[in-house]
Amino acid sequence: MRLADDEQAMLDGEQGEAVAAAMDLLVRYGEVLGAERLVDTDNVCGANLFGSRHSLVCGSPTPDAAFSEHSLDAPTVLTIPPVKAQSYQLIGPMDTKNWQVQGLPQAEHDEIMASEQYNAEHGIHLLTTCTPYQVGNVPLKGEHCAWMESSAVVYVNSVLGARTNVEGRESTGAAMLTGKIPYWGLHLEENRRGSHLIEVSTPVTSNRDWGLLGYWIGEQVPEEAIPVVDGITGTTPDLVRLKHFGAAAASSGGVEMYHVPGITAEARTRDEALAGRTPVETLGYGPAQRREAYEHLNATASDTSVDLVMIGCPHATLGQIRDVVRLLEGRRVHPDSELWVFTPRALRHVAEQNGYAKALEDAGALLMSDTCPAIGQFLPKGTRVIATDSAKQVHYLPAIMNVQGWFGTLAECVDAAVTGTWRGEQP
Ligand code: F3S
Repeated sequence: MRLADDEQAMLDGEQGEAVAAAMDLLVRYGEVLGAERLVDTDNVCGANLFGSRHSLVCGSPTPDAAFSEHSLDAPTVLTIPPVKAQSYQLIGPMDTKNWQVQGLPQAEHDEIMASEQYNAEHGIHLLTTCTPYQVGNVPLKGEHCAWMESSAVVYVNSVLGARTNVEGRESTGAAMLTGKIPYWGLHLEENRRGSHLIEVSTPVTSNRDWGLLGYWIGEQVPEEAIPVVDGITGTTPDLVRLKHFGAAAASSGGVEMYHVPGITAEARTRDEALAGRTPVETLGYGPAQRREAYEHLNATASDTSVDLVMIGCPHATLGQIRDVVRLLEGRRVHPDSELWVFTPRALRHVAEQNGYAKALEDAGALLMSDTCPAIGQFLPKGTRVIATDSAKQVHYLPAIMNVQGWFGTLAECVDAAVTGTWRGEQP
């Protein structure tokens, strides 16, 4: 790999041993990937919150030790300096307000809070969400980023036209300290063209429709594919629909970027999306394919008694929280069920000021932030059946937490929370 002078100086230790270790990691990583050089980045989203589990693995329960081991893959404990690039903490393991609901012991809480403090002192912005683009980190078209979190990566690549691969904890840790990331994959113009054409012949309007379409596409196309979704008519999708769509496609498959001609950043037309090339494959999506996706998403569920309804995967917007509040109006969550709504920390504050948090609480529901059941690996005690409006969450929770999972519309989910019974119907 060719290194610029500033990169070589970092590798030689001019900025200290931690920056040298970070540069060494990026060079080794880039060489394995076949990258010829690094690229500057001033927008890094990673995950550096550590609880006792990580500290114990590390052998030395200090935040520097955890960062050295888990964010830099370094064999020794280094003194970590403040970050160089604008850096953001993604979703973490704990809701700092409702951590007792998660069943976390005090010691774990205290360690994660100390870890947060450490991150703040090192200049890492505590967004603690999987949707940084909803709360102030909105990269521009062409901006080189280094982001973890597949649902966020597919959103910023496709909808915004920013450039990032799906990075890991180590590469983002190194990027934070150096402001560099290997220049390969989706950083390169030629790798961002559409490869597979999806011809849609059925209406795709609601959040559920977009989740089903994304889930189906992810199952059909290979990991490196960039689908071009053509034939969308009727309602123009919004942030929430494309958030659900991308998260679903990145869960059932490995989609990191897609184009919707006329909607997403780099595809004014179908020809532009495909860069004039013939697609590798053309697939049709109609009522039969939508049914297939619905059946796959509901394949784990048979018991209609619902213990938990989870909303907010990816983390909910204020509009989604408002919709839950409206659907709950005059109703209460069933005594045998729970309704948890997850949102970024910043939006929880606004939701509290707007009265949404109180309205949810009054109806027996709970507004949570900073984490989610899949990342934090927690559910209400005794949960056997969950319901959600998220294709991603219903894809992962049954596998991770050994529960049954129902997928449907937001209205069906709120109905399940209020009645304790799943009554959703196939579209
Ligand atoms: Fe976010 Fe957790 Fe879903 S990280 S995308 S809420 S699985």
